[in-house]
Amino acid sequence: MNNSIKLAILGLGTVGTGVVHLLQDNLNELKRRSGYNIVISQVGTRKHRDDIDTSIKQTDDLFSICESDDVDIVIELIGGTTVAKDVITHAITHGKHVVTANKALLAEHGNELFNLAEANKVHVTYEASVAGGIPIIKVLRESLASNKIDWLAGIINGTGNFIMTEMRDKGRSFADVLEEAQELGYAEADPTFDVEGIDAAHKLALLASIAFGMPLAFDQVYCEGITKITTQDVEYAEDLGYRIKHLGLAVRRQQPDGTDAIELRVHPTLIPEDKLLASVNGVKNAVLVNSHPLGQSLYYGAGAGAGATASAVVADVMDLIRVLNTDNNGHHVEHLSFQPELLTDYKILSPEQITSGYYLRLHTEDHPGVLADVTRILSESGINIDAILQQPAHKAGHVPVIILTQPIIAQKMNQAIAQIEKLDTVTDEVVRIRLEELDED
Ligand code: HSE
Repeated sequence: MNNSIKLAILGLGTVGTGVVHLLQDNLNELKRRSGYNIVISQVGTRKHRDDIDTSIKQTDDLFSICESDDVDIVIELIGGTTVAKDVITHAITHGKHVVTANKALLAEHGNELFNLAEANKVHVTYEASVAGGIPIIKVLRESLASNKIDWLAGIINGTGNFIMTEMRDKGRSFADVLEEAQELGYAEADPTFDVEGIDAAHKLALLASIAFGMPLAFDQVYCEGITKITTQDVEYAEDLGYRIKHLGLAVRRQQPDGTDAIELRVHPTLIPEDKLLASVNGVKNAVLVNSHPLGQSLYYGAGAGAGATASAVVADVMDLIRVLNTDNNGHHVEHLSFQPELLTDYKILSPEQITSGYYLRLHTEDHPGVLADVTRILSESGINIDAILQQPAHKAGHVPVIILTQPIIAQKMNQAIAQIEKLDTVTDEVVRIRLEELDED
């Protein structure tokens, strides 16, 4: 290798432009750390950009870039799962290492792309794909490599967290905050990915695979968005000492036969207000990891935006320079953290088999015995009540009742709610939101 590392950046949107700026701003520090001049030799862009240094070749032929001898590392920042997949495949088969921020592509096609990379003796690095600038991939693959991970819980979509925070703190409307998140470059090209939890599910699939050592299983992530959360529920939750956060959870559950199964789920969740995760606001992300023997550790930082994502992209470049600098590309961590032939096909529990606590909101008629009927159904279903809050009647004869329960398998809760909704005295559908105490076990 000569004393320059040549990068190609494919895609000059918010993140691509952020990477160009970072490489300019921190040029000297990057050289002092890596020992190399890190230069951009080519950029792949549909439209010519006048603000890019004239020494950098601009082209819209992404495939030719991947074949060029003038490129050591290809940085894919196009997004999406079609062209990006073809381009990364082309780069891998032409012996190029790849850096990508593309969580959707890896969550859906990572098993195939990582196998291809291993066969071609190159690496696909993806720190920027989860939680923006927080080095959570490195933490799980390297820093916690000595631990057995029991569960992790993360606020892993900045846009969703920004929306929920602004709605709660400033009473702003959902649409208004979403528009601002789009202007700030936080939101996905299709913002329903943010608010319906799909983006978080992509990221959760990646985190779970490297935490537990299992193939990517995005299609088995249970996913609920934030669009149905009301300010009323936010307020009741706060009255009871909880905050509602949109969490991604990956949980190892021991089964009666002694084997482990995995819960993969993204949904709004009540968490105790005194947990640090409850104070993660705005576009910030955080991931709480419960592992043995460390116990709980929490990772916090900017989860979206040009600078945060560029920070992770260039950190991957620095790792790949070490790989390029060793014989036979030897110095590397396995793509999914564990030896590929030792990945375990854990059973992923179905939505009905997921265990969690619950917040229930019911509207009932206001006369004797109504609450007794509800609590009898819960008790007969083996559901333990933690707290009950009955508000004064807000319209003639109807009272909102809030119930918090201890953890129970979803199947039992679904059956109990179906029975409660059949009571003549319960006037509306029961609102349910999951609840997690996030205690160290
Ligand atoms: N749309 C994503 C978010 C961008 O809001 O978190 C970072 O992956």
